Amino acid sequence: MNLVVIGAQWGDEGKGKIVDYLAGSASVVTRFSGGANAGHTIVSGGITYKLHLVPSGIVYPDKTVILGTGMVIDVESLFAELHTLEEQGISWKGRVLISERAHLVFPTYKQKDLEMEKHRRNPIGTTGRGIGIAYAQKADRDGVRCCDLFNPAVWKTLKDEEKAFVEPYMDLLKEMIVDPVSYMAAHKDENKLFEGAQGALLDIDTGTYPYVSSGYSIASGACAGGGIGALDIDAVYGVFKAYNTRVGNGPFPTEFDHDAEGELENMVRVTGREFGVTTGRPRRCGYLDLVALKYSCRANSISDLVLTHLDIYDDMEEIKVCTAYEIGGKVVTDFPARVDLLESAKPIYQTFKGWKKNISGTKKFEDLPQKAQEYVEFIEQYTGTPVTIISVGYERDDTMIRKPVWTR
Ligand code: IMO
Ligand code: MG
Repeated sequence: MNLVVIGAQWGDEGKGKIVDYLAGSASVVTRFSGGANAGHTIVSGGITYKLHLVPSGIVYPDKTVILGTGMVIDVESLFAELHTLEEQGISWKGRVLISERAHLVFPTYKQKDLEMEKHRRNPIGTTGRGIGIAYAQKADRDGVRCCDLFNPAVWKTLKDEEKAFVEPYMDLLKEMIVDPVSYMAAHKDENKLFEGAQGALLDIDTGTYPYVSSGYSIASGACAGGGIGALDIDAVYGVFKAYNTRVGNGPFPTEFDHDAEGELENMVRVTGREFGVTTGRPRRCGYLDLVALKYSCRANSISDLVLTHLDIYDDMEEIKVCTAYEIGGKVVTDFPARVDLLESAKPIYQTFKGWKKNISGTKKFEDLPQKAQEYVEFIEQYTGTPVTIISVGYERDDTMIRKPVWTR
């Protein structure tokens, strides 16, 4: 079975935790997009692992993880991350594979990324990891893929500093590169996970362009960048938080009003640990936007929603959710493509009573306070998609499964 896990908002939804949880019953985890712009946090046995390039299955000793074709890879960052994992007691040799078709990120790309940002019509607030440059180079048919390093005709075109950058890793890379299409075919009957990075609203085509990243963060990216075909996806899990966040610039209709809702904003940011794993930037926070979530469900054919951070709302008197926008005097429930319209959108909210109870550690949906259940059921009804996993804490086991995962 092939199960895809993506972010259904603007990234940082808790994908790492969910992939780590599901990886317990999978044999392989393939990351299909993004690069070191991602920051996936896993807490297991009291230890926190911070991943940027390495797929979130690595914490188990027996899982194979694959950096897929859709990724852009900075080899220095990758091996530094693997070294840190090793120091944390995770052995990785022999079970970290890299798609031979994945593109490389060279150090000059990072400088170019920062320079580009200065000249942009609309500064995005990139992570400065060279990601956009690597994808642009790829689209320009002038990129360098992992397999190209072993092609003498390409090697001789590399600049001396590029050769010097990859040379220390060539022996390791040679052992690690794989053709994911053959790999997936050979492991057809196993439980395989495909891990997205960023989120659907940061996808280059589906997201809030130009305030997006540059890879495929949508579910179909698992085909383009993971080594499977379009008919091979069995389920799509869309991870979303009980509220919304966004890092960097771009429209965010439900963002908390810093003056009127400063206290609430601060509570969500601190309790929800809403600071970037990659850049340390405080994340912008706001109410759950169901217009955007429904758009994500449709654009990704999300079969199962995964709700995270529900416990962050434990102390709230009232909880608001956005069910429509008012744009130019009209009520709109379709997510607009035009950034100016989205920026001018006034959210129309429905208000729910808070449950005022600590729900962390709850194991069964039926054991959640009635008001928390109502909040979840409203989301399901609005999006037309079942919420089949709920996370109420950072540890792997703080996870409620409402429907068996690998049986369909
Ligand atoms: P994970 O996988 C949240 C944002 C950046 C910036 C925009 C473009 O942890 O959810 P880039 O460096 O990719 O060119 O920046 O995208 N961004 C993310 N925001 N989570 C992420 O990944 C992100 N990756 C990129 O902040 O606004
Ligand atoms: Mg992140």
